[in-house]
Amino acid sequence: MTAKIDIRHIPHATPTPADVRAKLIADPGFGKIFTDHMVTVRWSADKGWHDGQLRAREAFTLDPAAAVLHYAQEIFEGMKAYRTPDGEVLLFRPLENARRFNRSAERMAMPALPEEIFLQAVEALVRADVDWIPGGDGASLYLRPFMFADESFLGVKPAGSYVFCVIACPVGAYFKGGAKPVSVWASQDYTRAAAGGTGAAKCGGNYAASLIAQAEAIRNGCDQVVFLDAAEKKWVEELGGMNVFFVFDDGTLQTPPLTGTILPGITRDSIIKLARADGMIVNETPYSFAQWQADAASGRLREVFACGTAAVVSAIGTVRHKEGSFTIGGGEDGEITRTLRARLTAIQRAQAPDTMGWRHKVVV
Ligand code: PLP
Ligand code: COI
Repeated sequence: MTAKIDIRHIPHATPTPADVRAKLIADPGFGKIFTDHMVTVRWSADKGWHDGQLRAREAFTLDPAAAVLHYAQEIFEGMKAYRTPDGEVLLFRPLENARRFNRSAERMAMPALPEEIFLQAVEALVRADVDWIPGGDGASLYLRPFMFADESFLGVKPAGSYVFCVIACPVGAYFKGGAKPVSVWASQDYTRAAAGGTGAAKCGGNYAASLIAQAEAIRNGCDQVVFLDAAEKKWVEELGGMNVFFVFDDGTLQTPPLTGTILPGITRDSIIKLARADGMIVNETPYSFAQWQADAASGRLREVFACGTAAVVSAIGTVRHKEGSFTIGGGEDGEITRTLRARLTAIQRAQAPDTMGWRHKVVV
């Protein structure tokens, strides 16, 4: 038995002309330009998942009492479609996104979405908007599957109806400086997630809670915020939208463990697997902010990098905090950071053999 549903195609009346699209995708930035289409699938307690549609991207009509507007029942995913040198279109480990989506859904008391429907919706959108995938180095089509509660009801309880939707953006580098090392602000006043909270879920509320710290980072001249744990404000957790790795002078890597307060990044998991396959030691153990400062000062710490779907692998060159700042590796892109970025992106873009079985071809 398959869990697939029918996705009805409602043709777009006025798709973007090819010349306009070509201009838009030439230098897309991140998250500002959207493709022509979207996919929506609805859920209700009586019908389950139903009413799949592929149609022109347009605004939703929401009742002012829609549950998402009040109690933030919303989750999302982030993934990319790549155009290969041979003109194929690939997704990277899409089932991992589908699985994480369902773990997020469970945490937020939302209905599970069968993995087949998640993938079917993503593939339908990629197929419809295939001409929006930029071909350039470092460019891709960023896909944003998300789900929100649309029941009109002000009692606090899990909603009785939901919309699942996928939209897409042609994107280039997440950070304006491209592959240049980024700076991070260590937030000492704000935390992102506590034990028992929603830190491991990809829900909009986590990002809402991070924005004041991200704004503080920007005010202090940094690209991103790095959060410490909520209980002791001692242990490094993750960035606002990326996981973090430390590289030491003995060649070992360290990254904070998945204890429920950080997002289990698919890039994080891929980096760990690639590094271990190359014989590197990767420790998933807590690392304190004090140790980070001490190791940067002693030179034991050689490189630090952030990783995620949007940011790929970005070196962290400078860390700022209330009492001062420090640099790592002279603020340069380090060798292991460069090697792991190259290993990952070569697999994603079919420039290297898919030894891990991570590529997923979309028939377009
Ligand atoms: N941590 C947070 C808070 C994120 O938003 C993201 C991005 O999705 C990540 C980590 C990295 O996850 P992934 O590698 O699956 O994109
Ligand atoms: C992603 O990498 O997909 C994210 O969701 C992170 C966000 C900063 C864009």
